[in-house]
Amino acid sequence: MKLRRQPSLNKKSFQITLQLLIAAAIASLTFSQTPASAPPDEAAVHQRADALLKAMTLEEKIGQLSQLFDFRRSKAIDDAVAKGELGSLLFVTDPAEINRLQHLAVDKTRLHIPLIFGFDVIHGFRTIFPVPIAMAASWDPSAAVKAQTIAAKEARSVGIDWAFAPMLDIARDPRWGRIVEGAGEDPYLGSAMAAAQVRGFQGDYIGAPDHILACMKHFAGYGAAIGGRDYDEAYIPETLMQNVYLKPFHAAVKAGIGSAMSAYLDLNDVPATGNRWLLQDVLRDDWKFTGFVVSDANSIKSLQNHGYAKDVYEAGLYAFNAGVNMEMAIDFTAYSKSLATAVERGQITTQQIENAARPILETKIRLGLFEHPYVNEARAREILATPEHRTAARLAAERTAVLLRNEKNLLPLKKDAYKKIALIGPLADSQVDTIGSWSFQEDLAETVTVLAGLRNKLGAQAEVSYAQGVQIRRKIPSFFDAIFHLKPQPMWTAQEEKDEMAKAVGLAKNSDLTILVMGEAQNMSGEAASRESLDLPGQEEKLIESVAATGKPVVLVLFNGRPLNIKWAAEHVPAILDAWYPGTQGGNAVANLLFGDAVPGGKLPVTWPRNVGQVPTYYAHNTTQAPDNQGKRYWEEESTPLYPFGYGLSYSKFAFSNLKLSRSEIKRGESLDVSVDVENTGAVSADQVAQLYIHQQYGSTSRPVRELKGFERVTLGAHEKKTVHFSLGNDELTYWSTATKSWVEEAAAFDVWVGGDSTAALHAGFVIAK
Ligand code: NOJ
Repeated sequence: MKLRRQPSLNKKSFQITLQLLIAAAIASLTFSQTPASAPPDEAAVHQRADALLKAMTLEEKIGQLSQLFDFRRSKAIDDAVAKGELGSLLFVTDPAEINRLQHLAVDKTRLHIPLIFGFDVIHGFRTIFPVPIAMAASWDPSAAVKAQTIAAKEARSVGIDWAFAPMLDIARDPRWGRIVEGAGEDPYLGSAMAAAQVRGFQGDYIGAPDHILACMKHFAGYGAAIGGRDYDEAYIPETLMQNVYLKPFHAAVKAGIGSAMSAYLDLNDVPATGNRWLLQDVLRDDWKFTGFVVSDANSIKSLQNHGYAKDVYEAGLYAFNAGVNMEMAIDFTAYSKSLATAVERGQITTQQIENAARPILETKIRLGLFEHPYVNEARAREILATPEHRTAARLAAERTAVLLRNEKNLLPLKKDAYKKIALIGPLADSQVDTIGSWSFQEDLAETVTVLAGLRNKLGAQAEVSYAQGVQIRRKIPSFFDAIFHLKPQPMWTAQEEKDEMAKAVGLAKNSDLTILVMGEAQNMSGEAASRESLDLPGQEEKLIESVAATGKPVVLVLFNGRPLNIKWAAEHVPAILDAWYPGTQGGNAVANLLFGDAVPGGKLPVTWPRNVGQVPTYYAHNTTQAPDNQGKRYWEEESTPLYPFGYGLSYSKFAFSNLKLSRSEIKRGESLDVSVDVENTGAVSADQVAQLYIHQQYGSTSRPVRELKGFERVTLGAHEKKTVHFSLGNDELTYWSTATKSWVEEAAAFDVWVGGDSTAALHAGFVIAK
């Protein structure tokens, strides 16, 4: 065992040496035999962490609570790692560099404690899957399990042990750019996708081979940023907090998630990163979360910006007392400026520091980092190039697309019907825009655009010609552009703009069919990508109108991370396919979908407004005064959405019938079975998502007009029929009542609907008896 300094013979050093020896003994005895394919023995994990903590100095313990960004080799970071002043780094992705840094931690520090490397593995690592909102549109949690399993394997292969995902923020305001990173507006769908992603990242247990630690973020309420403006405060009433915003986080905790990230936002005037109610009362006391909490980047120091802490010292102290175990920061941590002094001043105890460090050490132990701190670079190269991962990404993209409109069954396109195809739009041949935001390690050359996908599919069968038509650009640049190394095209002159538009329209005129790929560039959706309008950017709308005016058949493919204002297209363009940001294999998936080699079956995880003025709008609103008039709240436009939550068409048709409840009356705590027949009445095999909604008609508080409480995506052959079953019981029928300040299941009458979207008409009812 290497010691940082020579032990002298005084009593204190002797004790430390003894502790070190005990720690080493526990480490070797208990762990060298543990097979990686079994969960570690929890008692041994605790013992080992205890032994380490006993041997650690205060500085070393505080080091475990500190995480810095490491964008590029830095001497200061190397030194801090070698001194045990850092427990974690983020944004290092090169396996050789990870090994080098890990060697510093393991070889140079007194107790050989490895670093844990974190990264934003959001929708893939090398192989990029569709963005999270798209994965939610699959309404297929097993697809999310698969995608995150692959993402975890790729990330782990290079030495990343920890994903800053899933993002579980419910978002009901599409102006908020980060809506793309979550599962949309609904707590039930959001909870299912949360649990699935935890399972995908972590596997059966923390430390499972080829898996990584997951981190639920941003705890909590970040999606309710006022005005949809990223980083701004949110005011969330208790009923929405408990019944909506916290739900997916609780689901992730129940699924065994090992870490959480505190949010940037100022929640009801108490910033989330300093919010003890959130981080202690809810997360640990109520939910029994035993993992650790990391702050968002610099969010501890930002407690000063919130006007919550007077200086960096207080900021560190407040976040620590609120329950943030680890500080994520750029340059330096507040913890390094406050915690040791706070212990000296008696403001916090060493015991508290140990309590904060313990779950971090335990996680490192569970992950097997002490036994296997290094990665095999050759294996990493093999894993990153696995062709099956790309196939999985294509299948996921096919599963997530939502068919919004299909007049006269223009889709699927017949392969032999079009000899000359015009492909138009700024996103149609852009790799970076095909994968979407929050992908940094993709292989761009491997990314298939729609142009490449169509050419792959059609070969010599049809001529596919491309014109960009318009340029789109953020007015206010994104700080992510530098990370992406985006080199924007030089802006066209006014004359070039006219010429390019004319060229595109001319191409459409001379072709048998036009496929438009429009929507938002990848940097228009994501962090720091909020909008005050939902209009198609730049001149896209004008281009769509001009192409439609040619009278030739037109299909619009959307790339987007949020609902956009497509009111005009929804009335005039016969076919609209929402592909979101479909990922590495996006172009091949879109080509398969357009030509019927895959059938769209995705459903909207978010209400699609007609216009930004309707925002926020979501299906689970309350009934309130004049419910019959609910679609006519505005005088100049319907207040109903353009497309409701859960909506999505198919190339086939489906019928729901025979809705049956096993009981018409239950007592509290009992369950009933809901069954319904789903029939594919068309001639092609296709998917439908059976969705179950309930409404509690009265109770101690008013309840939403509809709430999703069950769903299942089924694949049915032509004319095939299947009975789908759901169970309604305590989990589905309980809610947080602000009147009684408790979770209640109330004696009341309930409506039940099942169908293919949130406007489902097939109805039944039951009561919970007094
Ligand atoms: C800030 C973002 O809010 C968070 O989601 C991300 O995980 C961290 N930065 C690290 O990149």
